[in-house]
Amino acid sequence: MLTERPGLAAGADLAYTRDVALETADAFERVRHVIPEVEWPIHAPFVAAINRLKRERNAVVLAHNYQVPEIFHCVADIVGDSLGLALDAAKADADVIVLCGVNFMAETAKLVNPSKTVLVPDLEAGCSLADSITARDVQLMRERYPGAPVVTYVNTSAEVKAESDICVTSGNAVKIVNALGVPRVIFLPDEYLAKYVASQTSVEVVAWKGHCEVHERFTAHDIRAYREDDPNLVVLAHPECPPEVLAEADYVGSTAGMARYVEEAARREHPPRVVMITECSMADNVSALHPNVEFVRPCNLCPHMKRNSLPKILRSLQEMKYEVTIDPGVAARARVAVERMLEYSRSTS
Ligand code: 13P
Ligand code: SF4
Repeated sequence: MLTERPGLAAGADLAYTRDVALETADAFERVRHVIPEVEWPIHAPFVAAINRLKRERNAVVLAHNYQVPEIFHCVADIVGDSLGLALDAAKADADVIVLCGVNFMAETAKLVNPSKTVLVPDLEAGCSLADSITARDVQLMRERYPGAPVVTYVNTSAEVKAESDICVTSGNAVKIVNALGVPRVIFLPDEYLAKYVASQTSVEVVAWKGHCEVHERFTAHDIRAYREDDPNLVVLAHPECPPEVLAEADYVGSTAGMARYVEEAARREHPPRVVMITECSMADNVSALHPNVEFVRPCNLCPHMKRNSLPKILRSLQEMKYEVTIDPGVAARARVAVERMLEYSRSTS
C-alpha cells in the first residue's frame, strides 16, 4: 500500500540559465542522440534541481529501462531491469530511494531494504499483470494444485508475494524453475511468461491468465512484416509477448538481457539493425548508448511507466512523497519469497 506523507516544501528556480546549461552539459551529451537540442531547455532546469536535491536529501534515483531518456540518462543513479533494481535497492545505503518504475518495483525495494524511505513520483503507476491477481486467488490455486510450489513473477503486489514460495523475474524465471527440481509448479500471473518457461524446461507449468497490456499487443504478423523489409533484422523480444511472437524472435530475454545483446552487437564492425519487441523507451535508452546501431522502432507505451516525469520526481524529493509502506505482517512473508530469489541470483552470478 502507498500512503501520502505531508512533506517539506522546497522551492526551485526552474529557469534555463547559463549556469544550468553548464551544470547539465554532461547530461545532455548522454542524450543528444535521442533528445532534440531544442527540447533541452525544458528538461535541463529539472535535471539540475533534481540532482542538487538528491545530494541534499542523501537520495538515490533508481530507474527502470522503460523510463524516458531524460530520467534514465540524466537523473537516475542506478538503472536496470526488475532483477537488477531489486539487487541494487537491497545494497543502497542512501537514506532515500526514489523508484522510477511502477509500484511493484517500489514495493520490492521497500521489502529488500526496509529501513530506507522509498518514494514513488506517482501513486497510480500500476501494472496490468499485478492487477490481474489477488492473494485470495493464490490461495485458491494452492488448494487446487496441492504440493506444487507457487512461483510468482515480481510484477505482483506484496500481498500476492506473501502467498508465494519464491519470486522470479523475466531474467531468472527459467533458471529458478529448473533449479526447484520439482515436476510441477504454479506460475503466476503472466500466462505468456509461464508458457515460455514451460517451453524452456521439462517442468509442468500451471499458469494464470494475466497479461501485460503492452506486450500482448505485438503480433507475429508485425515481426514478419519487419523481416520482409529487412531479412537481416535482429529481433529481440521480451518473454511477456505471446508465444507466436517469441517464436519469430532471434533472442528472448529480460530488458537487461536485450540491452546486453545490443551492447555486444554494437562492438561488431557492421552492427545489425535491431528491433526490440518491448516498451517504447527501451530502444531510446539503448540507442543513446550505442548511436552506431540502427533501430526499427515500434512504439507501444506502458501508460504506468509513463506516469513518471522530471517535474514529478522533483516534487517527490521536495515534498518527500509518495512514501511506500507495506503492512508488516504482509512484508515479512513477501520478503521471504523475494529474498529466496535474490539469494539464488547472488549465488549463481
Ligand atoms: P524486466 O524485468 O525484464 O525489466 O521487465 C519488467 C517489466 O515490467 C516488463 O514489462
Ligand atoms: Fe506491467 Fe506491462 Fe507496464 Fe511492464 S510494461 S509495468 S508488465 S503493464
